[in-house]
Amino acid sequence: METHKQLTIGLFGFGVVGEGLYKVLQQTPSLKASIKKICIKNTGKKRNAPASLFTTEKDELLNDQDINVIVEVIDDANAAFEIVRTALLNGKDVVSASKKMIAEHLPELLEIQQQTGRSFLYESAACASIPVIRNLEEYYDNDLLHSIKAIVNGSTNFILTKMFEEGLDFKQALLLAQQAGFAESNPKLDIEGYDAVNKWTLLLTHAYGIIETPDAILFNGIQSIQASDAVVAKSKNQQIKLVAQAQKLNNGKVAAFVLPQFVNHDDHLAFVRNEYNGVVIESSFADKQFFYGKGAGSFPTASALLSDISALRYQYKYEYKKLYQQKPHELSNDIFLRIYVSFEDLSHVPRERFEWIEEWHASEARKYLVGVISFSELKDNKWWKENNTSLILLPEPIIEETATRKLKKRSLELAGVI
Ligand SMILES: NC(=O)c1ccc[n+]([C@@H]2O[C@H](COP(=O)([O-])OP(=O)(O)OC[C@H]3O[C@@H](n4cnc5c(N)ncnc54)[C@H](OP(=O)(O)O)[C@@H]3O)[C@@H](O)[C@H]2O)c1
Repeated sequence: METHKQLTIGLFGFGVVGEGLYKVLQQTPSLKASIKKICIKNTGKKRNAPASLFTTEKDELLNDQDINVIVEVIDDANAAFEIVRTALLNGKDVVSASKKMIAEHLPELLEIQQQTGRSFLYESAACASIPVIRNLEEYYDNDLLHSIKAIVNGSTNFILTKMFEEGLDFKQALLLAQQAGFAESNPKLDIEGYDAVNKWTLLLTHAYGIIETPDAILFNGIQSIQASDAVVAKSKNQQIKLVAQAQKLNNGKVAAFVLPQFVNHDDHLAFVRNEYNGVVIESSFADKQFFYGKGAGSFPTASALLSDISALRYQYKYEYKKLYQQKPHELSNDIFLRIYVSFEDLSHVPRERFEWIEEWHASEARKYLVGVISFSELKDNKWWKENNTSLILLPEPIIEETATRKLKKRSLELAGVI
């Protein structure tokens, strides 16, 4: 077996991540990996590397026989897919950080990997410096994984931390995140949950063998969270986080979503502040395990790329064990969720579609209620994303159908109805 082979890299992108990788590789000569050429988009920019390394011609890298590894870290998902596809078909191993591109093209990328037998690694695409993909793939390579719950987007976590700890409203907190470099000038992808659901799509594949496009997963961002929601959370000794969650159900399927959630003060995720990410994995016998680290930034992301590049020396590949070697799980809509909804006008909230309502606060300027609703109601309708309505899950939000009936009966008993 070929071990510790010399890696000659063609790098696509020299932005935050690409330049970070260039610097990190210079500091790790023992890896026997060198960058032969870098493809970028604009010739006019000043670069902190020798001019002879740069080109705008992608084929100079993709058709170079000496280059055996392509590292793709560009910010254009369509162009990224073409680069990765061509590189794999040209017999090169590929490392990528482009979560949007991978989440949107996973079926094709799986097919090309099978066809070519090349490695395609993307640890940095989800939670950057936290090695969660390889752990799901290798350590949790069995069907005992009960649930996985995570904060996967650093920008939104930074904003929520500032709203919660410093009492800022959403706009002030977003501005601060932009000034600190944690949010884009156009922050829609982060704020409205698109980035988080892209990452969750990838992690669902490695956790449960589920192949879905991001639009098949119920998600929202934090754009509607109000300072008054943070006050309610505080009064209950809780925080608000944008939580990506997946849980195996009694019916053998998996419930998955990305939504804001109240988190108890002693939950592992409450510990994850500012731009950090965290992942809590629960399996049948090990109970809970918690991964914590930087989910974005030049060097944290480059460190995950470096680990993938290093793994190529011994021909490491994702085996997608949950997909190919076990019966893959399916997503289920067959659950109910415990939710809090705050709003300005009750006419925007269809109370009659709730299974039941547990709390109702009408006196404040911004009103809210707490109740139980079917997952399908949220998947099929948009009222909870409109009219400045804010929906936040309660801790332990999932109620499976059988449990619902029992609870419903109990609440009717308590109310003296039956
Ligand atoms: N930033 C993070 O913390 C982070 C973390 C994890 C994953 N990622 C992912 O990593 C990727 C890169 O992010 P970034 O923050 O480094 O972006 P960035 O700073 O905006 O840099 C993007 C780079 O891509 C180049 N580029 C764009 N289109 C190209 C094309 N068609 N061909 C060749 N080069 C092209 C740009 O070239 P010019 O320099 O000529 O403009 C630039 O160098 C994205 O997919 C992002 O989602 C980022």
